[in-house]
Amino acid sequence: MRTRPRSISIASGKGGAGKTTLTANLGVALSALGHDTTILDGDLAMANLALVLGMNKCELTFLDALTGRAKVDEVVYKNYGIKVVPCGFRFEDVHEALSKVKRERAEEVINELLRRTEFLLVDAPAGIADATIISIAAAREMLPVCNPTYSSLIDCYKTIRLANVLGSWTRGLVLNRTGKAADLSSAEVEQFMGRTLGGVPMLAEIPEDPKVQEAEREGIPVVVYEPGCDASVAINELAKVVAGEADLPYNPYDEREIRSTVQQLIRALTGRRS
Ligand SMILES: Nc1ncnc2c1ncn2[C@@H]1O[C@H](COP(=O)(O)OP(=O)(O)O)[C@@H](O)[C@H]1O
Ligand SMILES: [Mg+2]
Repeated sequence: MRTRPRSISIASGKGGAGKTTLTANLGVALSALGHDTTILDGDLAMANLALVLGMNKCELTFLDALTGRAKVDEVVYKNYGIKVVPCGFRFEDVHEALSKVKRERAEEVINELLRRTEFLLVDAPAGIADATIISIAAAREMLPVCNPTYSSLIDCYKTIRLANVLGSWTRGLVLNRTGKAADLSSAEVEQFMGRTLGGVPMLAEIPEDPKVQEAEREGIPVVVYEPGCDASVAINELAKVVAGEADLPYNPYDEREIRSTVQQLIRALTGRRS
């Protein structure tokens, strides 16, 4: 029997957290594990998922499927062992194109993609505009990408709350670009999520790695460009966790050590003085 397809939006409050990088590379990593994987660029305004994969000439895109100008089949491209649904627009008709996008049609297209794949990863736009809401609501699961800073953590918290409201389930989060001395630790992040949301486990910690941007410049996913680099190793491990082939990598946090940081974060978030 065919296993049930999974749809996962990859989201964060702000741009630059690593959503597009993660969507492309997690897709390639899942495919390398033998899973039929499709990645979709839901970032209608800043579409750049295809660029990370070196695809810069895609005639028809997700937007054409959304507006009914193209059939779903016509906007699915193959590269690096995965199916890629790029997005893109001509600046002349951006307003028209964006204002025509309807949640129902997006769900229709996504359901059609899901019928032919095992994993569908959606690169969601930052913020909470329509395209973000559509991208998150149309997927059953949401995978938040957080950087190890206070502001990113609070964005991540808001994104998880938004996904909850939209009925999308968050299994855990990804901490990306770690390794600087001033960073929040994974334990602090987990503790904060425990106190504010009742627990959101850390699925992976991806270090800051110069190979990621080197690969991006070449238009090659880093897991292919440099499979042995730290970021690639972490992304491949994450793929196993997402696919259910590996256990969560983290032990429960030590509550005492990090209590003060958590209180600081909660105060920053709620304005309360606890
Ligand atoms: N772990 C990492 N190490 C180094 N650079 C990274 C890492 N993750 C992402 N980047 C870089 O950060 C920039 C923003 O990443 P991107 O995936 O485009 O973010 P988003 O889609 O969330 O806006 C890109 O130039 C990308 O190559
Ligand atoms: Mg992006």
